[in-house]
Amino acid sequence: MFTGYSSLLLLLVSQGLAYTWPDTKVDHLEALLYQQQQYHGSLVGSDVRFCFLTTFDLDKLRAISGRLTAAEWIRVAYHDMATADVEAGTGGLDASISFETDRGENEGPAFNSTMKQLYLSHSAKSSMADLIAMSAVLAVGSCSDGKVWLDYRGGRIDATEAGPLGVPEPHQGLDKHTEIFRKQGFNQEEMIGLVACGHSVGGVHGSIFPKIVPVVDEPGNEASLHPFDSTAVTFDNHVAVEFTQNSTQNALAFGHNKTTRSDHRIFTADGGNLISRMAQDNDFYLATCKNLLERMIDTVPKNVELSGVIEPIATKPDYINIVVNEDGTLFVSGEIRTIQDKAIDRGSRQVVVHLKAADKKISAATTRNGESLPFHENRPSFDWWGFNATIPIAQGLSFDVEIIDDGDSKLETNGGKGFPLQTDIIPQTSKSCSSTTVKGPSTINVTAAVGVSYPSHQIRAVTDLIKILDEANFDSVILSVDIPHAQQNSLVPRIEPTPVDMKKTRVLEGTGYSLYSGSLDFGAAFQGLLSYDVIGRRALGHSISEFNSFDSLRRCS
Ligand code: HEM
Ligand SMILES: *[C@@H]1O[C@H](CO)[C@@H](O)[C@H](O)[C@H]1NC(C)=O
Ligand SMILES: *[C@@H]1O[C@H](CO)[C@@H](O)[C@H](O)[C@H]1NC(C)=O
Ligand SMILES: *[C@@H]1O[C@H](CO)[C@@H](O)[C@H](O)[C@H]1NC(C)=O
Ligand SMILES: *[C@@H]1O[C@H](CO)[C@@H](O)[C@H](O)[C@H]1NC(C)=O
Ligand SMILES: *[C@@H]1O[C@H](CO)[C@@H](O)[C@H](O)[C@H]1NC(C)=O
Repeated sequence: MFTGYSSLLLLLVSQGLAYTWPDTKVDHLEALLYQQQQYHGSLVGSDVRFCFLTTFDLDKLRAISGRLTAAEWIRVAYHDMATADVEAGTGGLDASISFETDRGENEGPAFNSTMKQLYLSHSAKSSMADLIAMSAVLAVGSCSDGKVWLDYRGGRIDATEAGPLGVPEPHQGLDKHTEIFRKQGFNQEEMIGLVACGHSVGGVHGSIFPKIVPVVDEPGNEASLHPFDSTAVTFDNHVAVEFTQNSTQNALAFGHNKTTRSDHRIFTADGGNLISRMAQDNDFYLATCKNLLERMIDTVPKNVELSGVIEPIATKPDYINIVVNEDGTLFVSGEIRTIQDKAIDRGSRQVVVHLKAADKKISAATTRNGESLPFHENRPSFDWWGFNATIPIAQGLSFDVEIIDDGDSKLETNGGKGFPLQTDIIPQTSKSCSSTTVKGPSTINVTAAVGVSYPSHQIRAVTDLIKILDEANFDSVILSVDIPHAQQNSLVPRIEPTPVDMKKTRVLEGTGYSLYSGSLDFGAAFQGLLSYDVIGRRALGHSISEFNSFDSLRRCS
């Protein structure tokens, strides 16, 4: 009885948990996934914005015809997951693939080339494993023209070494394949489905598998791509239709070499039942693929706890910067991202930020800075509204966002408590600097204002604060830099937080704040986003200013 009750309660609680800002496990991934291009665009999906886009070879510095980036991303995601053992709770989508590119079971240039395309977005809050999963979402979304949008969760952790062997290969028999998929957590029917879903876009390359398909001498097909079906750049059920009609050109089903006809063996393993249903009904095919591919990207080692499904956030602050002024005020600036709604005339929309500092309320008008657009019409677009304000120092600073459309006003309160501003540890970006080079010495020097820190419900005015407490309620203040370390046999660096003590350099008289500085020299082999945290340590629990970007720092001279 008791367990039944408590699990029901858990269910209700988890369904009722609306998003509140900030959520460091979600915020950055949400921006990468949905702010696709233009203002603050992440560009993660630009290489697959059209399913037909040819892969740009970063070694040869030119596009190689016959290679399709979208197909490569889906294959890479599957190969990373393919060595999972769900019973043991090991493997799965963990980016171990980056160490496994020299294996026969991972034949071809797609693996390193995908790492190079994705590592520009790699950071302490976007692991390579999360990016590989995201790449599958974006590729399938693009190739299905938005019809299949996989639910996306974050929180995957990158492996730091190769995993076991075990990616299926076309010469292996049906029993072997059934066993590999069972280990991955898919039964026979699901195996048939997942292979039919995977082999919808792209195909077999003569440049990689000359024993399966011929090497052709065509200038428009340098990689000798032999597509799985007649719609190689559309995610649809043609692979199934053409298989059941016996008109397929799928070399893994009817190639000249019987040994490597693995798709034929798999598609007929249940007497051809599922592949026929997929052939008859494209909607059934797409729905089945959405489900199976979501399970594919959510197959993770047992120590990983995935976030909830990351949906577009309607009203979201970002790029907040706070300067502690010597006169006892704070200069707050930032941007508010609002989601566009087709029913609303955005030309007349106004957004106002209402800051709450103790008993004072200060309203700041905003100006529209730009918009983030999706690569495909059926994804969200956002407007960005810049604001700034000078406010008195107080604990429990927060703000509400008012959105006015045609005289209709709506107040966004972040679930009731307002959008919080962190005031106990505030990096002072104009007093900080960094210098980085892709391969070579890098440095960062951070100055942060460290101030009084009450629990946020104890709102007090600044005059009280200065009398009662100063920053000394932290035992120590730490700069923690997310340093990328190059790894053997992998193009993907391991990002490791590296702490250094910060020293008090100045008291900002009359403000309740002191300045702390810390610096670190390091060698970074990195093309992704560099970040740092500032952590205040004390027995009662730490306080952290998390995931501050190097991008907002000026260059050290
Ligand atoms: C028994 C299982 C499987 C075998 C033996 C197999 C084998 C192969 C082979 C030999 C290729 C040709 C690669 C190339 O020449 O570039 C290929 C391509 C591909 N596979 Fe699979 N595969 C299997 C399952 C899957 C699954 C489950 C997925 C994803 C859900 C998948 C996704 C792809 C994609 C997207 C391509 C096209 C790659 C491109 O055009 O660059 N495969 N597969
Ligand atoms: C057929 O494929 C098998 C497995 O890859 C290979 O050993 C064999 O040489 C191939 N036969 C021909 C005629 O290419
Ligand atoms: C399918 O086509 C292949 C080659 O065109 C042929 O050898 C085979 O007999 C056909 N199978 C059926 C069931 O029609
Ligand atoms: C502050 O906001 C005003 C009005 O939106 C704008 O004109 C000004 O450039 C902003 N100042 C800074 C420093 O961001
Ligand atoms: C870092 O910056 C602070 C404040 O500007 C300065 O006092 C300190 O010397 C700098 N440290 C290094 C190692 O450059
Ligand atoms: C991929 O890159 C890694 C790291 O540079 C390298 O060790 C590996 O050999 C490369 N794999 C291929 C297939 O080129």
